[in-house]
Amino acid sequence: MGKLAALGGTPVLDRELHARWPVVDDDCRKAVATVLERGVLSGSDAPEARAFQEEFAAFQGAKHALLTHSGTSALQVAVGAAGIGEGDEVIVPAYSFVATALAVVCQGAIPVFVDVREDGNLDPAGLSTALSKRTRAIMPVHVHGAPADLAPILEFAQANGLRVIEDAAQAHGATYDGRPVGTFDAGAGFSLQSSKNLSAGEGGVFVTNDEDALDRANKIRNFGQNLARVGTGKWNAERPLDGNWHVSNGVGSMYRGNEMMAAFARAQLRRLGERTARAQEHAARLSRALDELPGVTPPRVPARGTSVFHKFRVWLDPVKAGVDLTPLQFRDAVRRALQAEGCEVVMWQGEPMPSFPLFQEMRGYGKGFPFSAGDLDFLRTNYAPERFPMARRLLDSSIVLFSQTCPLIAQNASVVDGYAAAFRKVWEHRGELAELARVEG
Ligand SMILES: Cc1ncc(COP(=O)(O)O)c(C=O)c1O
Repeated sequence: MGKLAALGGTPVLDRELHARWPVVDDDCRKAVATVLERGVLSGSDAPEARAFQEEFAAFQGAKHALLTHSGTSALQVAVGAAGIGEGDEVIVPAYSFVATALAVVCQGAIPVFVDVREDGNLDPAGLSTALSKRTRAIMPVHVHGAPADLAPILEFAQANGLRVIEDAAQAHGATYDGRPVGTFDAGAGFSLQSSKNLSAGEGGVFVTNDEDALDRANKIRNFGQNLARVGTGKWNAERPLDGNWHVSNGVGSMYRGNEMMAAFARAQLRRLGERTARAQEHAARLSRALDELPGVTPPRVPARGTSVFHKFRVWLDPVKAGVDLTPLQFRDAVRRALQAEGCEVVMWQGEPMPSFPLFQEMRGYGKGFPFSAGDLDFLRTNYAPERFPMARRLLDSSIVLFSQTCPLIAQNASVVDGYAAAFRKVWEHRGELAELARVEG
C-alpha cells in the first residue's frame, strides 16, 4: 500500500463522497409542503403530530407516543411522568451526552453516576454503590444505538422499588431480548435531532405503555394544564388555534413539537427500517475487517439484543498493535491518520459527565438547586472523577468512526469499505505513524 496520506501520500477515500445526514428527498419535501398548504403549523393534537405519534408508537411496539421539541424534553417529561422531583436521585451512566443528566436536573431531581462497561453502557455492577435512600429511578442510556443490559438493571430496580426510564435518544429500532427498547418499564425518551437515525431537525418523542403516565407527561409538555387525553382532543381545521382556555394545575413548560417536524419525521420513519438494516449490514462487514487488525476492537452486537449503530466507536490498543505509544498518543495519531486518508473521525465526548463543572461545582439554579436539596457529602463522593475509570479509559482509548454530519447510516457500501481500506493502510504503516507521533510530541 502507498505512503500514508498524513505523510504526503494519496488518501484512500475521497472525503467528498460521504453522504450528509439527514437525507432530504422528495417525500420529505412533499410532506412539509403539505403542512404549509394546510396552513396548520402547530397544536398539541394537530394532524401530523397525532399521525406521527401513532406511527412511531407502532414502530417501537409502544402503546403511546408523545412528540416533544427535543430529546432532552422527552426525557424530562419521562422523569416528571414517573413522579420524580425535588431531592430525588436518578442513577445515570457516567458516559453519555449531558442531556441525560440535565433532563433529571431540569425536573428538580439529582443525577448520581455509575461507571460504564467497555461498550459504553451502564455497568449494572455499579448500581449498589450509587443507591441511597433518595434513589427513585435508574436511567440507562442505549448508547451508540446498542441496548443497555436491561435485565440486571430491571432486577435491581425491582428489588429496590425504583423505576427504569430509558434514554433511547440514539436507539430507534434497537431491541433487547427480542423487543424494541423504550417500554421495559416507565417509558423512554427518543431524540429526533438532525444527527439521529430518525431525524426531524430537532425534536423528541416520549413513549410509554402507561396511559396515566402519558397524561402526566402531556401536562408537563403543556404548561401544567390538564388537557384531553392525547389523540382525543377536538381539533378544528377551520379554527386550529382557538380552543378552550385552561388553568395550570402544576409546573409545566411548553415542550410540544410542531407540524413541519412531525411531517418530516413521518417521511423519515417510512425509510428507517430499510436504512437501519443497511447500516447493520455495513457495520457487520466493517467490524469483520477491523477484527483482522491487532489492537483494533470494533463495536460488538450486544449478546441479548440488536444495535442500530448510531455511532461506531472503535477501541485502539497500542500494546496489542505493538506500538510504543500511550493510549492517548495512539488514539490521536490514528485519528489524524484516518482523517488524512479521507475518513470522518470524531471524539463525540471528551470527558465523563461527572467531570463537568456543572457537577464538580454543583452549579444549579439560584443557590444551587437541585443539588442543594440533596446530601452534598454523598454527591461530592459520587461525582469524584476517579470513580469512573472505564468511562475515562473508553474516551482515552477509542475513536468514533463517521460523524454527526456524515453518520454510518447515511453511507453507501463503497464509502464504508473505504474505512476498512484506510484502517488497513494505517495499520500497515503504524510503525511510521508512531515515529511521527513521537516527533510531533
Ligand atoms: C444519549 C443522548 N441523550 C439525550 C440526547 C438529547 O437529545 P436532543 O439533542 O434531541 O435534546 C442526546 C442527543 O443529543 C443523546 O445523544
